[in-house]
Amino acid sequence: MVRVLVTAGPTVEALDPVRFLSNRSSGRMGYAVARALLARGHEVVLVSGPVSLRAPAGVTHLGVESAREMLRACRDYWQDCDALYAVAAVADYRPKRAVLHKLKRHEGEGQVIELTPNPDIVRTLARSKQGRLVVGFALESRCGEVEARRKMEVKKLDFVALNGPEAQGAERSSLLVLGADGSRVELGPTAKPGLARRVVRATLG
Ligand code: CTP
Repeated sequence: MVRVLVTAGPTVEALDPVRFLSNRSSGRMGYAVARALLARGHEVVLVSGPVSLRAPAGVTHLGVESAREMLRACRDYWQDCDALYAVAAVADYRPKRAVLHKLKRHEGEGQVIELTPNPDIVRTLARSKQGRLVVGFALESRCGEVEARRKMEVKKLDFVALNGPEAQGAERSSLLVLGADGSRVELGPTAKPGLARRVVRATLG
């Protein structure tokens, strides 16, 4: 039994108290990975952006909103975990200025939203991996395998699970699991719970 940190869902980046930038991630894959890990007897810490899914019974669940909050929550737990599955669709950018009052209609015209980069959570945590397993997920719309391998190297991942944009919000999908050792395993197409079980088997054993 090992203790595993899982990130899941989208992050939301505030523009004002009621508006935000985000993406279409449903969190299904991350939650399915958490369930698959639990089913194999592992302890799971699930750090999740806002989703409409119920956290699996038995996980330590932390709900967060922004990428920076997600990184803070992950940092608190990473030192006591043995592996990381970074499944979250983290927003790469956030509005440079989040205003404290709700923007009025007349304030919007001609307004330009400036963006600033968010931290790369998996890359930050993998810097202190010290032999621990780090698995990333990549969603690519072109040159998938080359891009995924590049990310694996840059982010110091042991494995990267690659899928296409059609996987977002879908019930069933496929994954190509690439290993830092050059391995290549095709999984699916199948429903996400089964896919998650196979990813865990292919990466954690
Ligand atoms: N990831 C992360 N923090 C970020 C961005 C991505 O932890 N700020 C993680 C994701 O959880 C995933 C992996 O990095 O495991 C790859 O995510 P992806 O969005 O494909 O990578 P990016 O670095 O954002 O690359 P790009 O948007 O240029 O394709």
